[in-house]
Amino acid sequence: MAAVVISVALQKGGVGKSTTSQALASTLGFRKKKVLLIDMDSQANVTYSSNVDKPQKTITDVLGEDCKADEAIIHCKYYDLLAADSYLTNVEMAEGVESTLLKNAIEPIKNRYDYVIIDTPPALGNLSFNSLVASDYVVIPTEPRPFALQGLGALHNTIESVQKRLNPSLRVLGILLIKYSNRTVLNRDIKDMIEDYAKQMNTVVFDTTVREGIAVAEAQTVREPLIDYAKSSKPNIDYKAFTTELLHKIGE
Ligand SMILES: Nc1ncnc2c1ncn2[C@@H]1O[C@H](COP(=O)(O)OP(=O)(O)OP(=O)(O)O)[C@@H](O)[C@H]1O
Ligand SMILES: [Mg+2]
Repeated sequence: MAAVVISVALQKGGVGKSTTSQALASTLGFRKKKVLLIDMDSQANVTYSSNVDKPQKTITDVLGEDCKADEAIIHCKYYDLLAADSYLTNVEMAEGVESTLLKNAIEPIKNRYDYVIIDTPPALGNLSFNSLVASDYVVIPTEPRPFALQGLGALHNTIESVQKRLNPSLRVLGILLIKYSNRTVLNRDIKDMIEDYAKQMNTVVFDTTVREGIAVAEAQTVREPLIDYAKSSKPNIDYKAFTTELLHKIGE
């Protein structure tokens, strides 16, 4: 059975894409699933927080067909990683980039994994597009902020165009609320708004929400998986519940 491929996407910056990608990949790996994490962002945040420095081969080389995906794999504690580097911006900026580069590149290695998790950049360019074309599912992390809905609209359009042209089976698994507190009326109001919007997108807001916790930034600074650094922190507890909910949703 080929892997289930999940992109974590939203073109808005700093909403928790990289944190969610890495937490999901580690939690699945901790549960003995075979996981490949792909860093499709030239900021290389999940590469950094996976404690990988100066990788020999990166996803830039893979997409440029300078090497096979197989040759760029880096083994980390809970998952394998296809690392990013700053040259990935060249792929983002180039014109006429094929939308199926990533899909084709991972095809030969997909059967080795149960899950492929893709961290995408804060833009709706070549890299996010390639990620969506290669994916079965999208998870959309968002913060409960008044402008959250604006970002969702543009992503919705992009997802629909991917579904129409290249990947009809792509499904939005859900919207994940990050740094969420159900204690404030504002947060609850915005959650209601996002739930309404989710319906228009033919999806739902995950029951699980991720609370704020300093452990997230601390773990990223010392470059340890959150699951090891602060097992009983609120965000880690929430990411565990999120992983369970996600597996349930995709029928495991
Ligand atoms: N649950 C949380 N509690 C506290 N801080 C968090 C939480 N989740 C993420 N953060 C912090 O918020 C910031 C943005 O998170 P992250 O890098 O995951 O977002 P992103 O969407 O990947 O950003 P970008 O769009 O730049 O790639 C980071 O500094 C991260 O440490
Ligand atoms: Mg990121």
